[in-house]
Amino acid sequence: MNDPNHSSFRNNHFQQPDLTDSEYQTIANFVHKESGINLLDGKKELVRARLTKRIGQLQMKNFKQYFQFVINDTTGDELVFLLDALATNLTSFWREPQHFDFMIKTFLPELEAKRRRPGSEGPRLRIWSAACSSGEEPYTIAMVTFDNSPFFANGGDFRILATDLSTKVLNIAKKGQYGPESAKNVPPLSISRFMTKHQSESGGYIWAIKPEVRRIISFRRFNLMDPMPFKGPMDLIFCRNVMIYFDRETITRLVDRFHNLLELGGYLFIGHSESLSGLTHKFQYVAPCIYRRIQK
Ligand SMILES: C[S@@+](CC[C@H](N)C(=O)[O-])C[C@H]1O[C@@H](n2cnc3c(N)ncnc32)[C@H](O)[C@@H]1O
Repeated sequence: MNDPNHSSFRNNHFQQPDLTDSEYQTIANFVHKESGINLLDGKKELVRARLTKRIGQLQMKNFKQYFQFVINDTTGDELVFLLDALATNLTSFWREPQHFDFMIKTFLPELEAKRRRPGSEGPRLRIWSAACSSGEEPYTIAMVTFDNSPFFANGGDFRILATDLSTKVLNIAKKGQYGPESAKNVPPLSISRFMTKHQSESGGYIWAIKPEVRRIISFRRFNLMDPMPFKGPMDLIFCRNVMIYFDRETITRLVDRFHNLLELGGYLFIGHSESLSGLTHKFQYVAPCIYRRIQK
C-alpha cells in the first residue's frame, strides 16, 4: 500500500478529485449493501469530504479508481476503512438517560424478584450493546448495573457483548481510556468507584475504566447486516442511534432478529429519534424507545 505520508499529499500537490453523481450513486449503493447505511439522502458532501482524504493518502486520481481498489481488495481491509470513514460514531456516557432510569427502576428490580423466587438458581444477565461505538454505552450499562445490583456487583453471572462495524472505534473501546471532556457525563460517584485518573502523554490526564468493569465486556466487530452468530438469549439489547441510517426494510429484518435473540420478557432499547411505529414487528411497546418481547 502507498505511504499516506508521502510528500505529494503533504505538500498539497494533490488535486481534489470531482465526485460525479453516478460515482456517488455507485458508492452509496455499495455502502448500503455492505452495511445498511443509507447515504443517498443528501450525503454527497459527506462522502466527498471523507473519501477525498483517503484518495489523497493512497495517491489515487479519482473516486472511480478508489472504488475499483475497494472492490478488488481481497483482504477486505479497504472495505473496513471505507465503512469506518463513512459511519457516524457520535456517542457519550449516560446518553439518553431514560434507558438507564428504566434499568434502575424496572428492569433490575424485576431481575432481583426473579432471583428471590424459591428454587431460582440466581439469574444470569446477558446484555448486548449492538453498535457500541467507542465503548461509552457498554461501560455505562456495566456501571449502572454494578451500582444498582449488589448481586451482580458481587460476582453474579453478568456479561456484556459490545459490537460495532468500525474497527477504529472498537480499538478505543477496548482501551477504555477517556479524556476529561467525555468523563464529564459520568456521575462523580461512578467516577470514583469505576475509573482511575492517569497522566496522559500530552501532559493532561485521562480516566481509565477499572479492570473489574472491563472484564465483563467482550468487544467484537460485527456487521448488523450479517447473520447473528450469538447464541443468546439476551435480557436486554441496546441498539441506539444506528437504525436511523437504515431503511425500513433493513430495520424490519433487524428488529425481527433482535426479537428472536431476546429472552421472553427481555427488552429492546432504541435511540430517541428512532421508532418502530409503522413497522411490522412482534414487540410490545412499553415506553418511548423501549420495547418488550412478550411472545414466543
Ligand atoms: C451514532 S453511533 C451510536 C453509538 C451508541 N449506540 C449510542 O447511541 O451512543 C452509531 C454506530 O453504529 C455503527 N454502525 C453503523 N452501521 C453499522 C452496521 N451495519 N453494523 C454495526 N454497526 C454499525 C457505527 O460504526 C457507529 O459506531
